[in-house]
Amino acid sequence: MILGWVRSADDALGWAELPFLRIGPQVFEQWHVEPGVVPCVGWLEGELCAYGQVWEDPVEREAEVTRVIVATDLRGRGVGRTFARLLASEAIRRGFGVVVARTTRPNRTAFACFRAAGFVRMDRADEVAMNLDQSDDYVWLQSAPAPDV
Ligand SMILES: CC(C)(COP(=O)(O)OP(=O)(O)OC[C@H]1O[C@@H](n2cnc3c(N)ncnc32)[C@H](O)[C@@H]1OP(=O)(O)O)[C@@H](O)C(=O)NCCC(=O)NCCS
Repeated sequence: MILGWVRSADDALGWAELPFLRIGPQVFEQWHVEPGVVPCVGWLEGELCAYGQVWEDPVEREAEVTRVIVATDLRGRGVGRTFARLLASEAIRRGFGVVVARTTRPNRTAFACFRAAGFVRMDRADEVAMNLDQSDDYVWLQSAPAPDV
């Protein structure tokens, strides 16, 4: 079902950083055995509406919200924003004080989604440091505490 939400090359790259033709059930098999990967799903009125992951990095004492995807028909209605916020809350519940997220530079929708979920963009120096051991020049954001926390 979730795989059916990947409708375009941009979806595939934005979600999994993979070409469209390499999206298949094996992505879950590979991801879900990786240490520190916590897969999560969102439900709306009894229907699966979103999938995403929390990556736990106990060494850096940091968690990342990633691989978020929303059911195609439900996009643009606030599901991604709410789900990303819930994933950040889950990371905090698991004991992580720092929760980050990243997007590829062209993925303006994902950036808007994380911003709407309360993440703020890191300054450029931090972003450069975060990208030192990465294969791409990602845009990085950090979850800001909710006003009522
Ligand atoms: C990115 C994604 C998860 C966003 O989910 P969504 O439910 O459509 O997002 P929301 O409706 O909650 O919108 C969140 C913000 O993004 C903005 N947004 C939504 N769709 C947009 C679009 N097509 N272009 C630009 N901005 C967009 C909204 O305006 C909102 O910002 P605002 O509150 O400041 O107005 C969804 O588009 C998706 O599944 N994309 C494919 C997979 C992907 O790229 N995942 C990112 C992995 S990091």
